[in-house]
Amino acid sequence: MARLVIVSNRVPLPTERGPRAGGLAVALADALRPGTLWFGWSGKRVETPAETPELVQADGVTYATVDMTEAEYRAFYVGFANGALWPLLHFRLGLMTYRREDYVGYCAVNRRFAAALATVLQPDDLIWVHDYHLIPLAQELRRLSVRNRIGFFLHIPFVPPVMLEVLPCAPELLEGMAAYDVVGFHTDGYRRAFLQCAQQMLGVELDRDSFVHNGSTVHAIVDPIGIDTEAFVKDAVRAARGAEARRLRDSLEGRALAVGVDRLDYSKGLPNRLIAFGRLLAEYPEHRRKVSFLQVAARSREDNTDYLQLRRELDRIVGDTNGRYSEFDWTPVRYITRALSRRTLAGFYRIARVGVVTPLRDGMNLVAKEYVAAQNPADPGVLVLSRFAGAADELTEALIVNPFDPDEIAEAIHRALLMELDERRARHQALQDKVHQSTARRFCEVFLQHLAACKTQPMLECA
Ligand code: G6P
Repeated sequence: MARLVIVSNRVPLPTERGPRAGGLAVALADALRPGTLWFGWSGKRVETPAETPELVQADGVTYATVDMTEAEYRAFYVGFANGALWPLLHFRLGLMTYRREDYVGYCAVNRRFAAALATVLQPDDLIWVHDYHLIPLAQELRRLSVRNRIGFFLHIPFVPPVMLEVLPCAPELLEGMAAYDVVGFHTDGYRRAFLQCAQQMLGVELDRDSFVHNGSTVHAIVDPIGIDTEAFVKDAVRAARGAEARRLRDSLEGRALAVGVDRLDYSKGLPNRLIAFGRLLAEYPEHRRKVSFLQVAARSREDNTDYLQLRRELDRIVGDTNGRYSEFDWTPVRYITRALSRRTLAGFYRIARVGVVTPLRDGMNLVAKEYVAAQNPADPGVLVLSRFAGAADELTEALIVNPFDPDEIAEAIHRALLMELDERRARHQALQDKVHQSTARRFCEVFLQHLAACKTQPMLECA
């Protein structure tokens, strides 16, 4: 079997695994096969990065990492990836900051990463690149005469042409995506948006979900990511019996718990969600003193002022709601801006009567799947889910809401809190079946089957 080479900006180094790891790294780590090489950024900023990667072995996997300079970090990560691509691809044009020098830095880091990766590649490696930080990587590898099969998976949404064309370098980015053999998305909506962009902006002719560009074929596939469901169920059962879950349960004194867990990111719809909880208490006073809302919002990307501003806004909303509704022995909102371990959270999900996942846009959202997996099937909680999370395509038995409307979210939480056991069980059964079918392992298998079915590049077509 060909060796698998995973490439992503974040690498879950064995020494650093823990609450900080993002959704992508966690999901992939769940499905790693022995012998895999995982390449990416070390997370370190240094004055003079080495030209070749540093190698670390653990559990049969080789981790190969490279450092970045401060200037590269600013242009590549803070500037272009998170200041331009992230807001744009989450449909937030107003938050997009495009600076040509950031784009130049983004391309330069991709070029340097490609050169470092090329030093450790073998001829029949299957190369699987992840996420928006590394779109031009295949093009750069091709320029270095790498003929391997190379696939790309986008973990965040994709926008239709009318939005993408706002980005001055959009045609070049699409060229970059077209240098892959397989390009994967979580939903058919994102795939269609990509194909429309390729059609309109690159002028390619579509053959169903494929097209030929610069002499090679690009296959666009839909492959929703999942979790290691069986392991997560076990973690949740065990953690719900553990000390932290006991402390949480004791502190609730019989009250219901609603829970939300996210990175502190403007795509997650946190202000609306917290406003919604206040509306719930205002409109349905029967819930006062009967329910607490635990929001874990792990601080993230604090070099970007939009994130700092969001944090201040959330501080204000939480303070406002708690000031208005708290009793001397009950605080409606518990708000934590640190990351908690995935295992601790698994236990908290199992305790929570309502899981509130209401991003304004989200590639997939694995918290939704984890919340479902963690439930006790005999007495399950209810998932309130944004229709704009990729997960909503699959998890249709959740209470689906429009996250732009706090009143609708409040109504859904109200409905969830009152829902009879029969209905909770029926909904949960259907959701559970889906998270057991659509796992991280299946996600990897489907993608790699598509990639393995492609041919290696016969000659170097890319300029
Ligand atoms: C999202 C992205 C990942 C990213 C993660 C954490 O899940 O899709 O690519 O790694 O957020 O964000 P960060 O900027 O800390 O890597």
